[in-house]
Amino acid sequence: MKRVLVLGSTGSIGKNTLKVIEAFPDKFKVVGLVAGKSAGALREQVEKFSPEAACLVNFEGSFDFKGKFYRGLSGLKELIEDVDFDICVSAITGSAGILPTYWAAKKGGRLALANKESLVCAGGFIVKVAEEIVPVDSEHSALFQCLRKERKEDVAEIILTASGGAFREREDLSSVTPEEALKHPNWSMGAKVTVDSSTLMNKGLEVIEAYWLFGFPLEKIRVVIHPQSIVHSLVRLVDNSLIAQMGVPDMRIPIAYALSYPERLPLNGELELKLPGLSLDFLEPDVEKFPCLSLAYEAMRRGYPYPIVLNAADEIAVELFLKGKIPFTAIPVLIEKTLEIADFPPPSSVEEVVEVDRLSKELALKVAEEFLF
Ligand SMILES: NC(=O)c1ccc[n+]([C@@H]2O[C@H](COP(=O)([O-])OP(=O)(O)OC[C@H]3O[C@@H](n4cnc5c(N)ncnc54)[C@H](OP(=O)(O)O)[C@@H]3O)[C@@H](O)[C@H]2O)c1
Repeated sequence: MKRVLVLGSTGSIGKNTLKVIEAFPDKFKVVGLVAGKSAGALREQVEKFSPEAACLVNFEGSFDFKGKFYRGLSGLKELIEDVDFDICVSAITGSAGILPTYWAAKKGGRLALANKESLVCAGGFIVKVAEEIVPVDSEHSALFQCLRKERKEDVAEIILTASGGAFREREDLSSVTPEEALKHPNWSMGAKVTVDSSTLMNKGLEVIEAYWLFGFPLEKIRVVIHPQSIVHSLVRLVDNSLIAQMGVPDMRIPIAYALSYPERLPLNGELELKLPGLSLDFLEPDVEKFPCLSLAYEAMRRGYPYPIVLNAADEIAVELFLKGKIPFTAIPVLIEKTLEIADFPPPSSVEEVVEVDRLSKELALKVAEEFLF
């Protein structure tokens, strides 16, 4: 029986994780649940799964719970220290996940990693202390599976697939509304990652995530658009063989794999990919129309602290867009301008990463006030 701690249990990945765990009660036990402020949703989850510990990071009210209850970021740190877990599913959204992911990695056991921002911002620190990382992101789960049997020197390139988002075929992006950006053509996900998919920033963050997970240079990490989201990623070997991992676009598959690896769990028939009639298309990404992907490569080429600035400016840009304060087309503009003027030293600890993240967000807000409002 594996003991599982879920960070971000009330979100899209968190809920899907609990669905998988619920289907295999003899294999997994939920020992801790952590959310931001959704007290009602967390209460329902603790009633159903009876964990030993629970935490709300941003909630002041009372919380009725039989186990040990923690509050705030310092409470979350204590929970990670106190609770004995085999697997931590890291699924808090955004840079709020950096410190918790680092603490869980340092504690040991398996890190089932969904929070890509923690690797984008603090990859070097996390990879160094983690005992084992199994990716949850579908593309990285695919690469993890494709690379299992291959020698590193036999790999010519790793190829991340991207659906291309909701606006791949739309000519005029200036009129895109938050409601339109929140509708992903293939995946059902949280708000931030859905908007990031529509700008291709999600793929940019995933390129950086892949860099830290698999240790290939940026020149060997490529992106192709694959509108059907069936091939989750590919590896091209030096003899030009391509190895791909395919499946229906449903996060329960990569989540189940991250929980059960190296075994496989028999998932129910509704997740079967039907082959007759299947068609697969691959296209080059349009980086003129979606500059966020190039901005991510550029930030990573410049090195630290720029990936942190990139991620922070993106979080601010998406938030302002969702509040209706800036147009969709201003998202890459705000990120590019923030990257241009940011001048912070490279961080030498995870705490310094968090500080650069804070300063970069302040800077991005100033840039927005000066150029965009
Ligand atoms: N959704 C997907 O299919 C998918 C796929 C691949 C990778 N990912 C990655 O997985 C991560 C989670 O994505 P998601 O779509 O599941 O996000 P989501 O639906 O927005 O859920 C986010 C979760 O994080 C919690 N949270 C937010 N701020 C917090 C804070 N300051 N402290 C503690 N908990 C906090 C939320 O709690 P409250 O409910 O209380 O706010 C919620 O449980 C992201 O990094 C995303 O890029 C997601």
